[in-house]
Amino acid sequence: MQDHVTTHQAEEDARNEAIKIYLNGRIVPKAEAVVSVYDSGFMLGDGVWEGLRLYDGTWAFMDEHLDRLFEAAKAIDLDIGLDRAAVRQAIVDTQAANDMTTDAHARLMVTRGVKTRPFQHPSLSRSGPTVTIIMEHSRPSIPRPIRLATVPHLRGLPMTQDPKLNSHSKLNCILACIAAEKAGADEALMLDLHGFVNTTNACNFFIVRKGAVWTSTGDYCMNGITRQKVIDLCRASDIPVFERNYSLVDTYGADEAFLTGTFGAQTPVASIDGRQIGTGEMGEVTKRIRTLYKDLIARECA
Ligand SMILES: Cc1ncc(COP(=O)(O)O)c(C=O)c1O
Repeated sequence: MQDHVTTHQAEEDARNEAIKIYLNGRIVPKAEAVVSVYDSGFMLGDGVWEGLRLYDGTWAFMDEHLDRLFEAAKAIDLDIGLDRAAVRQAIVDTQAANDMTTDAHARLMVTRGVKTRPFQHPSLSRSGPTVTIIMEHSRPSIPRPIRLATVPHLRGLPMTQDPKLNSHSKLNCILACIAAEKAGADEALMLDLHGFVNTTNACNFFIVRKGAVWTSTGDYCMNGITRQKVIDLCRASDIPVFERNYSLVDTYGADEAFLTGTFGAQTPVASIDGRQIGTGEMGEVTKRIRTLYKDLIARECA
């Protein structure tokens, strides 16, 4: 689609053709980083992952990412086969092998591993997990505020596939994204089961109304680390912030809207379902939050 942008768009970087990838304890050239067609992740989306960002030699909020990874692995009854220190070391080793010091993004993935037969039952995954880290040079480059479209795909209840799981199987979010793209937007705005505005298919979602920052209650969406940091920063900086239910009427009428995620920090929203939000450009509160977040990263990664 013409003029389509994604919320995970980065500057072209030729070095990414020559990156090395962590694969089950080895660090190998990209071309050799392949997994079996019997892998539980490939076959069934049976795995969990984290996305982390490197700033000035430090992986931001590593502890929170490790907490979420191990919590998700426990929830799906997957033994990562490494403790926290070993996962941390794998990330640092991959960073060193790629000679990366800043502006890198890591996708750490753990699946239930190679299956003995091509069927669903987890007991068929007998050879231990597959652990991989794709680490790329990455400077976010999102050329304009993004356009959202609401879609029929809902954020599910926790007892179906808990939307808090960073699972490999993301089909619900992918279908939402496809629907948004077919509607001429860049990303999907997803509602909860009651019709309240919840989150986008790949990021958390905030609006700003009369100087106050609103986001969903946190039910039905990813417990985003950036989301929580933004809430904490607002609280510490006397910016009113509410985790609450709100509707599309509140959202179309907002002065500003933005997304949050590890990849892009805060990404401004220009329009939703063809309604311009505010001026259609990044608003003042969003700018302030971006500055506060940058300062937080500078302290975290000093
Ligand atoms: C569906 C979804 N929402 C939001 C996020 C943002 O979370 P974080 O701020 O921890 O990167 C992610 C990232 O993994 C995600 O997959």
